[in-house]
Amino acid sequence: MKSVVLEKQGKMAIKDMPLQGEMTPESVRIAVKNVGICGSDVHYYTHGRIGPFIVDAPMILGHEASGVIVEIGKNVKGLAVGDKVCMEPGIPNAKSRASKLGIYNLDPDVQFWATPPVHGCLIEEVIHPAEFTFKLPEQVSLAEGAMVEPLAIGLQAAKKAAITPGDVAVVIGAGTIGIMCAISAMAGGCSRVFITDVKREKLDIAASYPGITAIDVTKENPLEIVKKATGNWGADVVIECSGAPAVYKDITEYCCPGGRIVLVGIPIDPVPMDIARIQAKELDISSVFRYANIYPRAIELIASGQIDVKKLISGTFPFKQSLAAFERACEMRAGDVKLQIEL
Ligand SMILES: NC(=O)c1ccc[n+]([C@@H]2O[C@H](COP(=O)([O-])OP(=O)(O)OC[C@H]3O[C@@H](n4cnc5c(N)ncnc54)[C@H](O)[C@@H]3O)[C@@H](O)[C@H]2O)c1
Ligand SMILES: [Zn+2]
Repeated sequence: MKSVVLEKQGKMAIKDMPLQGEMTPESVRIAVKNVGICGSDVHYYTHGRIGPFIVDAPMILGHEASGVIVEIGKNVKGLAVGDKVCMEPGIPNAKSRASKLGIYNLDPDVQFWATPPVHGCLIEEVIHPAEFTFKLPEQVSLAEGAMVEPLAIGLQAAKKAAITPGDVAVVIGAGTIGIMCAISAMAGGCSRVFITDVKREKLDIAASYPGITAIDVTKENPLEIVKKATGNWGADVVIECSGAPAVYKDITEYCCPGGRIVLVGIPIDPVPMDIARIQAKELDISSVFRYANIYPRAIELIASGQIDVKKLISGTFPFKQSLAAFERACEMRAGDVKLQIEL
């Protein structure tokens, strides 16, 4: 089967690879249709590693996928051949302690697509457990289905933020994940969301959603704007999505007393945070590692029209131009939110 393989750092090829895994009574076989290129795919390509995960053998890339079911295992209920679906890329051990607790994203043995040594989904067909395969309603396209993965991170952040209707939120960083967090915070009940970035194009895309106000930190003072908008009180929720070391020193200043900070961005190196300033406002700090039990909610929000992910798809490449798609992703154009490959 044709697939996009990262052979080693900086070297990618379209290659024939065998179908991965074997059908079980509980699995489905899916013809892959749309795959989003994620920052992590690009990072493995350019750096050959992310933290402890090192590409030391050829690996199929891609983890943000939708497709059409071509075969179902005999025990599978609620899915049928021909169904449009999207797939959750992380498969935990169902018997693990984390899975039993409902935090299966934190199972140390989770097998996540395109995280070494696990192959990804940029291949013609995949075999996947039915319980991590979700039927897309009629009105949700396969392209939107492949947006469920990054949206799920935004919704996990909104859930961790424990948003109460009417909350004001600040999202730091208007990359793909920041925009997903901002639209999730609005869907979760925020009255308004301020989003910051250094790139005007990203901010313009974010601010095209109702309720979201863009702040260009190269031209405006974000702290002053947030303080003024909240009568000097501060925002109820701050969701950090840049991973930029410089932002952490002021992060508590955005928060109101008793506010919440959700850490989504992953700084490459450890960053200091001022504990005394966190305590002085008794802030709650939480963090996000992917998501658990979020896919059905993400699909509902897209299907109901409450969240529009279509306009975040900046370009779609046919499968045979996958390498060009990755080169474009490496350019990191400010106007690109999500690039997809279509099989
Ligand atoms: N926790 C998780 O489960 C999870 C999942 C996916 C991604 N991430 C992390 O989330 C972060 C964002 O991912 P992404 O794909 O959107 O990356 P991205 O690079 O597209 O977005 C980061 C954005 O932050 C902006 N930025 C840089 N410095 C800034 C500053 N001082 N103030 C405001 N904005 C600034 C950049 O211009 C960029 O638009 C990354 O650190 C990534 O590793 C975390
Ligand atoms: Zn991703």
